[in-house]
This record gives sequence, structure tokens and C-alpha cells, in this order.
Amino acid sequence: MKKFLIVPSILSANFCHLGREIKTMMHAGCNLIHFDVMDNHYVPNLTMGPMILESIKKNKIQVLFDVHLMASPVDSLIPLFYDLNVKFITVHPESTIHLDKTIQLIKKIGCGVGIALNPATSLHYLDYIMGDVDLILIMTVNPGFGGQTFLPYILKKIQQVRYLIDKNKKSVILSVDGGINLSNIVQIIQSGADYIVIGSALFHSQNYLQAIQDFKDIVV
Ligand code: DX5
Ligand code: ZN
Repeated sequence: MKKFLIVPSILSANFCHLGREIKTMMHAGCNLIHFDVMDNHYVPNLTMGPMILESIKKNKIQVLFDVHLMASPVDSLIPLFYDLNVKFITVHPESTIHLDKTIQLIKKIGCGVGIALNPATSLHYLDYIMGDVDLILIMTVNPGFGGQTFLPYILKKIQQVRYLIDKNKKSVILSVDGGINLSNIVQIIQSGADYIVIGSALFHSQNYLQAIQDFKDIVV
């Protein structure tokens, strides 16, 4: 089976103990943490912003973040993530009027550029930006909430994006987000995913280390 990385989504973490939750995931070998920013406008939910990452940095928790911006307008938010240990900033193309400009803002603060594609979003959005993209995030639920059910028909889209990446620019990371659990991870990886974003299936488990091990064991 091909190599993959589990990226815990802290949307489902216990926010009373966020530092501890992240450290437990680091202890389990996860050095990249998915950070869902929701604004109650682009998606019908309200979550967290850069202040939380400032606090994590101040407390010297040495982890990198994979920031998933579900917000509109989004441009004014991007500079706020500067120098906060953010490896990627991922935006939804529909959330911004001038996508190229948004991409340049992400690059300007030294982060990798991610493009998120909702279940109904066309791959055509990638046509003119592939050269600037570092990560493509395929949503396997409609964004807005953790704990939703995986949409199996998106597997085909994952395969299509894998093909596109292999044909065009092999270094782009293919990430998948939403409803991932032990019953679907094998198909997702077989479809070509590199990063597997997992929220509730990890943070709602009794033992995070064991849960991560279970995911690794099932993918052999
Ligand atoms: C959904 C978020 C996801 C969410 C995934 O809009 O973008 O990152 O945390 O959570 P699960 O794994 O519970 O679907
Ligand atoms: Zn996400």
C-alpha cells in the first residue's frame, strides 16, 4: 500500500485541554494538525482563528498546522496566520472573488497553498492554478461540521485528482477530509490520497494512540 499521513483535525478535540490533546497526537507520531476555521457565513458554523495558534506557539508546542479556511471573504484573514507555524493554508475557490490574488497572499506569508474542493465543486477550478498549488483538499462531506457521513461517490473524484497530479505536477499533496473512519480509509488511500484528515474517529475514541495504530494496521 502506498505511503500516507494521518492529519488529526482538532475540530473534534476537547477544547478545555487543547494543548494536551495536540501533544497526545504528537506523541502518536502526528506532526501536522488540521485546523478548521469556520465563520458562520461561508459555512454555518463558528470555530477558531489565529489567536489559538498564537497561544499554542507561546506555549512552545512544536507542531505544524494545516489551516483549512472555510470563511468568506478570506483575504483579510490570511496575513493573520503569518509566523504561527502554519505549513499550509487551504482555501475554497468559491469563497473568494479573485482566487489568484488569494493564492499570492498565502505565498507572500511563506505558507504552502491549498485548494479545497467541495463535493459539488468542479475540477475546472484547478485549470489555471496548478503551478501555484502545493496541496489539493478533496472534501468528502459538505464543509461545516465534524462527524458527518462520508460521501462514497467522491472516491471517483479522488482518483481523478490523483491522475491530474501525476500527469501535471507530481509534488502536489492530495489530502482528503470528512467522515473518514476504519471502514473507508483503505478505499481512500487506494484512490490515491496522501494525507488523511481525521476528526471525530480519532478524538471521540477512548485511546488516541490505539486509534491511530488501528488506522495504520488496517492499511497494509
Ligand atoms: C469539516 C471539516 C473537517 C472535520 C472532519 O467541515 O473540514 O476537517 O473536522 O471531521 P470528521 O473526521 O469528524 O468528519
Ligand atoms: Zn477541514
